[in-house]
Amino acid sequence: MVVTGASSGIGEASVREFVARGWNVVAVARRRERLEALARETGVMTIVCDVTNEAQVAAMAQQVRETGGATALANIAGGALGVDRVEDASNDDWRWMFEVNVLGLRSVTASLLPTLRESAREHGAGATIMNLTSTAGLAAYPGGGGYNAAKYAAHAVTEVLRLELAGEPIRVMELAPGLVHTEEFTLNRLRGDAEAAEKPYDNVESLTAGDVAQVLVDACEQPAHVNQDLIVLRPVAQSSVFHTHRGPLVVRGEDQA
Ligand SMILES: NC(=O)c1ccc[n+]([C@@H]2O[C@H](COP(=O)([O-])OP(=O)(O)OC[C@H]3O[C@@H](n4cnc5c(N)ncnc54)[C@H](OP(=O)(O)O)[C@@H]3O)[C@@H](O)[C@H]2O)c1
Repeated sequence: MVVTGASSGIGEASVREFVARGWNVVAVARRRERLEALARETGVMTIVCDVTNEAQVAAMAQQVRETGGATALANIAGGALGVDRVEDASNDDWRWMFEVNVLGLRSVTASLLPTLRESAREHGAGATIMNLTSTAGLAAYPGGGGYNAAKYAAHAVTEVLRLELAGEPIRVMELAPGLVHTEEFTLNRLRGDAEAAEKPYDNVESLTAGDVAQVLVDACEQPAHVNQDLIVLRPVAQSSVFHTHRGPLVVRGEDQA
């Protein structure tokens, strides 16, 4: 299993969950020291790679091939930058979001497909591609601009890929989480403003990276003929992008008892 975005948040939690369930994992991200710490703890193989750099992606795929191949890929690397209105946004921010969430996903997938095919053939089993998108790829919101556009694009690419691989034993799945409380996602999006970055999670029971990892790994462990096309995962407190309940969840009538 190759996991991108493995150095923090959902990717790191997914690596831990895969390892706990006995998978061989290759952890991919840019930050070497974080990968090394994860490797010391879990024994995974690591590859330092910027998914937006095509030469590095090709070298990563080559290394995976030479070290035993892979029957599964989880594209988790991604992120958001800014909460600007469309009319105020910076093309540089949008470019960054497209590069990592869309083009990175595409080149990692394309580079690893030959290995996935080879390993599937060798093991006589199916292969799995799991793309971590977002509910931001299913519903737009003000200030979502570039992130919405990038995750909608990642969603579209996932659907196209599934159609293009029809007839091969390669399933293409998508997991779209809502509010997940990870350490770095909103902090990076808000350019290091730690106080503002905590606000979305204030007084609401969000998903954890571990919650998402459980569902992601469960999907990858379904029998090879089962394809969960699109899994939408939200905290109970968030009934849509626009409806987040803050405070305790209370059974109706209980408050009057
Ligand atoms: N948190 C949420 O509420 C939420 C909700 C829905 C979907 N998501 C999506 O879930 C994924 C993980 O998010 P997270 O919350 O776990 O955030 P995170 O902790 O910021 O994780 C992002 C990961 O992507 C890696 N990454 C970023 N740019 C990269 C690049 N150019 N090349 C290689 N790796 C790169 C980062 O590692 P390095 O910096 O070491 O490269 C990091 O491991 C993202 O795709 C995000 O859009 C998050």
